[in-house]
Amino acid sequence: MALPSVVPAPASITSAGSAPFAVVGETPIVGDAEAARALRSLVETRTGLTLATRPADAGRSAARDGTEGAIVLEITGDGPADSYRLAATEASIVVSGADAAGLFYGVQTLGQLLSPAAFGWQVPAVTIDDAPRFGYRGVMLDVARHFHDVATVKAFIDRASALKFNALHLHLTDDQGWRLQLESRPLLTEKASATSVGGDPGGFYSHDDYREIIDYAGAHHMLVVPEIDLPGHTHAVTLAYPELSEEPVLSDHIREIVRDYGGALPVNGVAYDGMAVGFSSLKIRDEATYAFLADVLGEVARLTPGPYLHIGGDEALGTSAEDYDYFIGRVSRLAADLGKTPVAWHEAGTASDLDPTTVGQFWGYVEPIDGMDAKARGFTAIGSDRAKLILSPADAIYLDMKFDADSPLGLTWARGVTTARRAYEWDPAEVIDGVADEQILGVEAPLWTETVRTLADIDALAFPRAAAAAEAAWSPAVGASELRTWDSFATRVGALAPLWTSQGIGFTPLEGIDWVSEDATGTTTAATVDAGADA
Ligand code: ACM
Repeated sequence: MALPSVVPAPASITSAGSAPFAVVGETPIVGDAEAARALRSLVETRTGLTLATRPADAGRSAARDGTEGAIVLEITGDGPADSYRLAATEASIVVSGADAAGLFYGVQTLGQLLSPAAFGWQVPAVTIDDAPRFGYRGVMLDVARHFHDVATVKAFIDRASALKFNALHLHLTDDQGWRLQLESRPLLTEKASATSVGGDPGGFYSHDDYREIIDYAGAHHMLVVPEIDLPGHTHAVTLAYPELSEEPVLSDHIREIVRDYGGALPVNGVAYDGMAVGFSSLKIRDEATYAFLADVLGEVARLTPGPYLHIGGDEALGTSAEDYDYFIGRVSRLAADLGKTPVAWHEAGTASDLDPTTVGQFWGYVEPIDGMDAKARGFTAIGSDRAKLILSPADAIYLDMKFDADSPLGLTWARGVTTARRAYEWDPAEVIDGVADEQILGVEAPLWTETVRTLADIDALAFPRAAAAAEAAWSPAVGASELRTWDSFATRVGALAPLWTSQGIGFTPLEGIDWVSEDATGTTTAATVDAGADA
């Protein structure tokens, strides 16, 4: 019989084939209070039922005896980090997390298992034992090209954590804007945060805003990874501290972008609202730059409880190779001296004096070109057992690539249009020769926002392709589970449509996926959008 649909695919799922558990208005949730709140809210959104919650000691054994009809939520304290077991029978549901995050993930799985029944709602009789393949499962939101307010970031956290992502990388600074207020350098947001791409309004996060995001992420078992992109992507700095910046390098590429997408050429000290990359650079041989970075990175490090500090390092085309080498060595060590694990885009893997704890983020292609893989291997070759890679192959899981050539949303430079199938059909261990699971910290799906203004835009680009990235990050390797095929994913992710709709997620019903719809009687039907050229 068909297994129930869970995304990302769990490590193990078996279906008893027996009668389901009935979820009705009287069904109690018993146990861990925080998880109970999360489940109550999920069930209410999905079903309209408001379940009662009871403290942990009030009925666990009764539920185990099968007499109570309860949903039991417990933290066991053993098993791998983030792991959980979900056992559903006609009599009870018991979700046991190894830790609080594991229980949270079990609750998310339970939310996916709810389906309408004649008598109300049901959960199939099933046993799931689940644990992630990788410890780092990230999404990135670029809040520099277009600013996204705290409410939007929280909504993105809701969506990502439900797919068992546990890291939110915030791309806080770029040529177009500086989005985090710093007490040490207040001019950055005073002078360089007002606009976004296309002349759209800008914005920034105060310390309180940033803490609110961090706390909300923490409550959803996600940590925040702040990025200050250096030494390129720094035109915004010229508005506040012009003395720290070189003149823009106006390459043919920059002129081409201006020709194709409009906007003006970058001028130091003037807000840049175009889409070109690679023209700006901090002054590399000026000590004032490092005093600035000690302030900036020091304050960001103090504000951020998580272990990572992303220093950028991509597309520094306005910086000479020699200066780049010097800068990355020095700034990676600065970040490490602040007590953080530096993270940098893969170009930094070439730096001769890279701090040995630095994590690399690969943004090349699934089949690397132009030596991108060699640069990425630089991070795993530097002799620290902590140095690792995050995989963000741009032609698979850059969520801002167009899903449809005709949509105004998204770009195409990374071999786009990127279909759901292309987002799905790759395996992290097969991207970079010589880099296997042990050297992979995890997987991250970035969402750059040149064309992305609203939560609706985020939803339309990220869903369902973020679910494909979640599966690369969480689920067993391709070939290690019968669920890790495109056909299985297309069925399972399509079954999430009613849940996503109930949660207000404006996903794009991409072709090749069996999107389920529920009618008023609770009958479900799957409509396969013609697979067409979706390969
Ligand atoms: C990048 O896409 N420039 C990291």
